[in-house]
Amino acid sequence: MTFQVAKLNSVSKTELYANLQLQLRSLLEGERDFIANAANFSSLLYHSLPDLNWAGFYLLKDDELVLGPFQGQPACVRIAIGKGVCGTAAQQRQSILVDNVHDFPGHIACDSASNSEIVVPLIANDELIGVLDLDSPSFSRFDDEDARGLNELVEIFVRSSSDFE
Ligand code: SME
Repeated sequence: MTFQVAKLNSVSKTELYANLQLQLRSLLEGERDFIANAANFSSLLYHSLPDLNWAGFYLLKDDELVLGPFQGQPACVRIAIGKGVCGTAAQQRQSILVDNVHDFPGHIACDSASNSEIVVPLIANDELIGVLDLDSPSFSRFDDEDARGLNELVEIFVRSSSDFE
């Protein structure tokens, strides 16, 4: 199989996320393995969204978040629920946008290049299963449109990748 990530320069965020939905559906078609799909999803995001230095997953295991498939520099492996941006999004089960990670109390610095961050929880059957985490070297890289677009992609991913049906 070859999958060419489409280069989408100079399109609006609305178009970008609409196109990413098409690419993600096509990438996950015919495969339900959660880790394999998470790995390909993180690669798609890392190579399609501009201005990222990290894109990947932390997965809930025994009441803590453990590093899952990702693209970017090696990262911290375990994050307690309620700690850092990831643990806070997991605890609140809500997306968190951080314009400046250096101002976020308890932010966990894995890559010193990161200046802003967005974390989206993964929920299946009303249960938290982990979080998607994106980091950027730019301040205020992420906005509500990213949050909406990423939440929709995460839904497609979770629905296409059960273990969780
Ligand atoms: N910054 C995150 C930790 C994960 S890394 O960014 C990859 C946090 O504060 O939870």
